[in-house]
Amino acid sequence: MMEQDILEVLFTEEQLDKRVSEIAAEINRDYAGKKLILVSVLRGSFVFMADLVRKIEHPCLIDFMSVSSYGKGSSSSGQVQITKDLSEDITGLDVIVVEDILDSGNTLSYLLRLLEQRHPASIRLCTLLDKPDRRVKPVDVHYSGFTIPDAFVVGYGLDYAEKYRNLPYIGILKPEIYS
Ligand code: IMP
Ligand code: MG
Repeated sequence: MMEQDILEVLFTEEQLDKRVSEIAAEINRDYAGKKLILVSVLRGSFVFMADLVRKIEHPCLIDFMSVSSYGKGSSSSGQVQITKDLSEDITGLDVIVVEDILDSGNTLSYLLRLLEQRHPASIRLCTLLDKPDRRVKPVDVHYSGFTIPDAFVVGYGLDYAEKYRNLPYIGILKPEIYS
């Protein structure tokens, strides 16, 4: 059972659903009449992306990118590698990058810089979780679900060593699992 590895539930399914609806409402307000594309950063954001996109009321494109971050460890290296690039050309589009969690900022500062070079009409970041205490590189966040303390969390797409992504809630992983 995965449940016995969880120290504490941080956000229940109901809390996540409510917050995702609030974020979608903000996006719906901000993007009327725009050429919106949601870019999900795999794999962690796939659950958030799937829930969010179904609450967006405007036509929008979706695309996926994959970057290497943690591997099997629990802190990022600062070395970012694109393992799957976008299929769409984002020139002239209004891009929202959808992330599961903003931690050191290494991954997203690199990714946003890269996407900006492709001349989108605009680009904003939407992250479900933000761990500001761990920031090493500054990143501009436009839509943020929850600010959380410095703990390793899993579930709702987030993994530890590719496990726990399918938990429907977000929980703090027991430290003995990864230490
Ligand atoms: P950053 O480059 O340090 O900001 O790392 C961001 C990426 O690290 C996220 O997209 C996640 O894949 C992963 N990550 C950071 N913190 C956690 C966590 O608490 N649980 C699971 N994955 C995390
Ligand atoms: Mg991720």
